[in-house]
Amino acid sequence: MAILVTGGLGYIGSHTVVELINNNFEVIIVDDLSNSEKFILHNIEEITGKRPIFYPFDLKRKELLNQVFDAHDIEGCINFAAFKAVGESQEKPIDYYENNLFSLINILQEFKTRKISNFIFSSSCTVYGQADKMPIDENTPLKMPESVYGKTKQMGEEILKDFAQSYKSKICLLRYFNPIGAHPSALLGELPIGVPNNLVPYVMQTAAGIREKLSVWGNDYPTEDGTAIRDYIYVVDLAKAHVAALKSLMNKETEETVIDVYNLGTGKGSSVLEVVQAFESANEVAVPYQICNRREGDITIAYANADKAERELNWKSATSLEESLKTVWEWQKYLESRKN
Ligand code: UD1
Repeated sequence: MAILVTGGLGYIGSHTVVELINNNFEVIIVDDLSNSEKFILHNIEEITGKRPIFYPFDLKRKELLNQVFDAHDIEGCINFAAFKAVGESQEKPIDYYENNLFSLINILQEFKTRKISNFIFSSSCTVYGQADKMPIDENTPLKMPESVYGKTKQMGEEILKDFAQSYKSKICLLRYFNPIGAHPSALLGELPIGVPNNLVPYVMQTAAGIREKLSVWGNDYPTEDGTAIRDYIYVVDLAKAHVAALKSLMNKETEETVIDVYNLGTGKGSSVLEVVQAFESANEVAVPYQICNRREGDITIAYANADKAERELNWKSATSLEESLKTVWEWQKYLESRKN
């Protein structure tokens, strides 16, 4: 019995593969290496002592996916494989819909034909848009996201709900807040291609001198220091939530539809400037920055109420912002050492 992890060499995927192996799951990775690198497979083996089975192909290739399902006794899937750059999704909407939704549908076709259940989907707090009330719990009304990337997440959720209802399947939607950090071994972390869009990778590269200055997008938000607030969740904590969600889903020996939804965050909001300061003090390094105009499409504030995950999955975020940011700096040093 094996778990299919799509995008298993990517940022959150690779950390989750490690946690799955640590929990004695057999892991099959499908990843087309479009936003990941092969050395991550080697590093997973270095951390766990096990090399997961790996297939390098694009999930839109139905015939190859079919062969993987023929070759292995797959009893569940964690689906990380997706394009995730918000700006790019606006420029290439059809590519985003095609990539993120066709790959999902292809896996669900296999699930349907073979009567497999247990599907975990990487969703995002972007499905809530700017919520009226903080913290955001799972009953907060959804708003159609502005970005095409966000829409693929919302549509993915809808497709999965219909799938679960029609075929009496078990699915789980995990809505991540802002994942940050790297593995404590410094062998896994986020590998931004080109100029990073997300805050923490940009901070990391600025501290390392790769970027001259961080642009802080707006200091006129109605928050204490004027910069926007997010809930930064440590990636290893997030990875552990996937294992807890999978076990919980698999334990539900039911013929009925199961649609689990969990917000995964720390429950604490931090402003952009707080992140910068925490990075500087955790790593004793300077992060030069300048204040710029707001970034289009950004919201003011989002942080989670993750009580449901604690109650039902016995999971909770355990790592502080500073501890997470220390691992980011170790990861940057590792990346530099690879160049030499
Ligand atoms: C972004 C996406 C969101 C996606 C998430 C995945 C947008 C509008 N939203 O969320 O849909 O689910 O990434 O991780 O892109 N910031 C700066 N300077 C920078 C980068 C970021 O000031 O160079 C600020 C942003 O304005 C924001 C905060 O830092 O207030 C966090 O930004 P980011 O890491 O991009 O995450 P989100 O915008 O929350």
